[in-house]
Amino acid sequence: MKHLGLEDKVVLVTGGNRGIGAAIVSLLEELGTQVAYTYRSEPNVESGALAIQADVTDPAAMAAAAETAEEKLGPIYGVVANAGMTRDNFFPKLAIDDWDAVIETNLKGIYNTLIPVIPKMYERREGSVICISSISGERGNIGQTNYAASKAGAIGLTKSLALEAARYGVRANAVAPGFIETEMTKAIPDKVKEKITAEIPFRRFGKPEEVAWAAVFLLSPIASSYVTGTVLQVNGAHHT
Ligand SMILES: NC(=O)c1ccc[n+]([C@@H]2O[C@H](COP(=O)([O-])OP(=O)(O)OC[C@H]3O[C@@H](n4cnc5c(N)ncnc54)[C@H](O)[C@@H]3O)[C@@H](O)[C@H]2O)c1
Repeated sequence: MKHLGLEDKVVLVTGGNRGIGAAIVSLLEELGTQVAYTYRSEPNVESGALAIQADVTDPAAMAAAAETAEEKLGPIYGVVANAGMTRDNFFPKLAIDDWDAVIETNLKGIYNTLIPVIPKMYERREGSVICISSISGERGNIGQTNYAASKAGAIGLTKSLALEAARYGVRANAVAPGFIETEMTKAIPDKVKEKITAEIPFRRFGKPEEVAWAAVFLLSPIASSYVTGTVLQVNGAHHT
C-alpha cells in the first residue's frame, strides 16, 4: 500500500497547541511525521510533538523556532501557517488596534513564519507550504473586515508564492475552512450559530480533523505533487 510520503518528513505547524492546528499536529504524528509546533502561551500537554513557544508576530522568535525545529528534528519539509485570531466589530466601530492586531497576526505572521524557511526549501528543491485562510477571506463576513482582509491576503500571498516557488520544486497552497468547531467559533452567540448552520448545506459546523485531512493532502509529496497555488475549501458546501 502506498503511504502519503510524509513518514519521517519534518513539518512545522504554527498555533499547533489547540483547535485546527492541534488536529493537524495529531494527524501528522499518526502518519509518522516529525512534527514541531509553535504555541503562544499554553503547550498541548497531550501531544508528543516538539513544542516551541513563539509568537508569530515576533520575527526573531519565528526565526529561532525554525532553527530549533531543524536542529532537533532535521530539515523542514512542510510548514502549516495556521496561527490566527479574530477581533470582530462592525467597521465604523473597528479600533485601529483591532485592525493592526489581526493583520499583524494573521498576515504578517505568515511572512514571519515562512521567511526563515523558504530559502532553505529552495536550496533543497523540495517543500510544501500551507496557509490556513478562511471562508471569510473568500466571501467576506459581517463584523470581520479586518479578519477577511487578512485571510484574503493569505490567499494572495499563497498564489504568488506558488508562482515564484514552482521553479524550485516547492509548492504553496491555502486551505479555506468554513465554520469549524473550535475555541474561535465558541464565542459566536447560539442564535447566530443557528442562523449560520441553517445556511450551511451540510447543516453542521466542520470538525478540526476534517480540516487536518485537507492540510495533510496538500502537504503530501505523493497525493498532491502537482497541486500548487490552489485554495482547498473545507466548508460543507457553504460557498458564496
Ligand atoms: N474555527 C473556524 O471556524 C475557522 C474557520 C476558518 C479559518 N480558521 C482559521 O484556522 C486557524 C486556526 O484557528 P482555530 O479555529 O483552531 O482557532 P483557535 O483559536 O482554537 O486556535 C488559534 C491558534 O492560533 C494561535 N495564535 C493566535 N495568535 C497567535 C500568535 N500571535 N502567535 C502564536 N500563535 C497564535 C493560538 O494560540 C491557537 O493555537 C486560524 O488561522 C483561523 O483563522 C478557523
